[in-house]
Amino acid sequence: MSHVNSTADYLIVGSGIAGLRAAVELAPHGRVLVLTKSDPEAGSTTYAQGGVAAAVGPDDTPERHAADTIAAGDGLCDEDAVRVLVQEGPHYVRELMEWGARFDRDTDGAPALAREAAHAVRRVLHAADATGREIGRTLGERLNGQSSVKVIDHALAVQALVERGRVAGVRWLGSDGRLGEARARATLLASGGAGRVYRETTNPPVTTGDGVALAYRAGARISDLEFVQFHPTALAVPGAPRYLLSEALRGEGARLINAHGEAFMPRYAAQADLAPRDQVSRAIVREAERTAGPIYLEMPSTVSARAIHERFPLISSLCRSVGLDLATDRIPVGPAAHYLMGGVWTDLDGRTSLPGLYAAGEVAATGVHGANRLASNSLLEGLVFGARAGRAMRDDEPGAGAQPGSRAIDGPPPVGDRLSMPIEERDVADLMWRFAGIFRDGSGLRQASEVLESAWHTLRQGLDRGGSLDASGWRLASLVSVARLITRAALLREESRGAHARRDFPAKDDLHWKRRTYQVLDPP
Ligand code: SIN
Repeated sequence: MSHVNSTADYLIVGSGIAGLRAAVELAPHGRVLVLTKSDPEAGSTTYAQGGVAAAVGPDDTPERHAADTIAAGDGLCDEDAVRVLVQEGPHYVRELMEWGARFDRDTDGAPALAREAAHAVRRVLHAADATGREIGRTLGERLNGQSSVKVIDHALAVQALVERGRVAGVRWLGSDGRLGEARARATLLASGGAGRVYRETTNPPVTTGDGVALAYRAGARISDLEFVQFHPTALAVPGAPRYLLSEALRGEGARLINAHGEAFMPRYAAQADLAPRDQVSRAIVREAERTAGPIYLEMPSTVSARAIHERFPLISSLCRSVGLDLATDRIPVGPAAHYLMGGVWTDLDGRTSLPGLYAAGEVAATGVHGANRLASNSLLEGLVFGARAGRAMRDDEPGAGAQPGSRAIDGPPPVGDRLSMPIEERDVADLMWRFAGIFRDGSGLRQASEVLESAWHTLRQGLDRGGSLDASGWRLASLVSVARLITRAALLREESRGAHARRDFPAKDDLHWKRRTYQVLDPP
């Protein structure tokens, strides 16, 4: 098997908004190597529809944005992280516009601001309903032609390289089976989320939690993984992908209705269709159970079909692809896994608990989202914390940020006998959807945990012996690792808060649980 070795000053794993924004920050200061596991556009950034939230409107302030973020986060937001997000957010969004991002404009030329659930005011900048794609395009153009930036695509980061107690880069596996080593003085994980841990997800196929799995195996502190956001309105047509139907649709007046045509959300939440996502997702499940029928999203009859198709061209075409008209048909919907609030613990500058290793974007857990993320705060998170992580990578002395008691764990290169995984991807996804999904309880979580613990221990022993995996084996290894961590965290938290709903502990318990949870690998 051939090996490819590369050295850079800065290594970035992932090519979504956080990784690209960090690369923009770093490009003038040294050689930047970006590893991306598929094509650069295959990640969640490209799928992000609704937009990017920032307090730029005349009736808005960072304080109002902070208040909405903290209310949605259900008592667990790190308020310092929220302050950074809302205060720095407008700067990064304006900068994007200066760099050529084409957000929709009002007739007076100001950015058109959309309404989304749990936002007190119109605050969401958007490029029709394909905002992530536009931001990715803008950052990509900014980096184009920068000779200091090199991208290796179809390179899956599989293991941290540890040298003299610090993370010195990663080992990666190419789609042709080549193994590579990429070394740098600072490594950023910007590898996105893990929606594919669940059977039903809005996320693209690449979202298998590789960054969390890699960081955990290297000894990094992992945080808050019990908090998985389920987006309420994924397309629910049998046999079709769970396409995201943006919350911006409800912001423009769409309502959820049951099989009898009744708008049911006012019975479940004071903010009705514009309640925070966790509440809407649970209401949909309960209403579907109560009526034993499907749930639909219906656009308001007061808005013309033409206006709807113009404002939401991508969603209109997704609906058309399954024979539905967004403007005139009732669109069947249901919740699907969408976003990880937890991930690799970081400080406000992207430093993980391990020296040399940084994380930003969905893979990271700054605590900014608490127990439930506010709509359209994720693209903003990628911009703000991606840029901050880039600056810290540039400025930190080697060894900065290491947390007391943390130590980077070295593993042998995975070049030995091929390991066989004792579980299949579909089994993990079914198990998680059934037992660690929108509603959980101790007995289901224990059932899932038993299966996942056993699969994880087989995997760990094999990797510790230097066993190898092919690309699909690594994919499954990531899914097993992250599913196990989600299940353990969900079992530990004996209360219901934000996106974590336990049927056996239905109340919020501030006395015992108004705190974050952490997991760290035991050294071998
Ligand atoms: C949406 O458009 O509803 C999703 C945006 C987000 O996840 O914040």
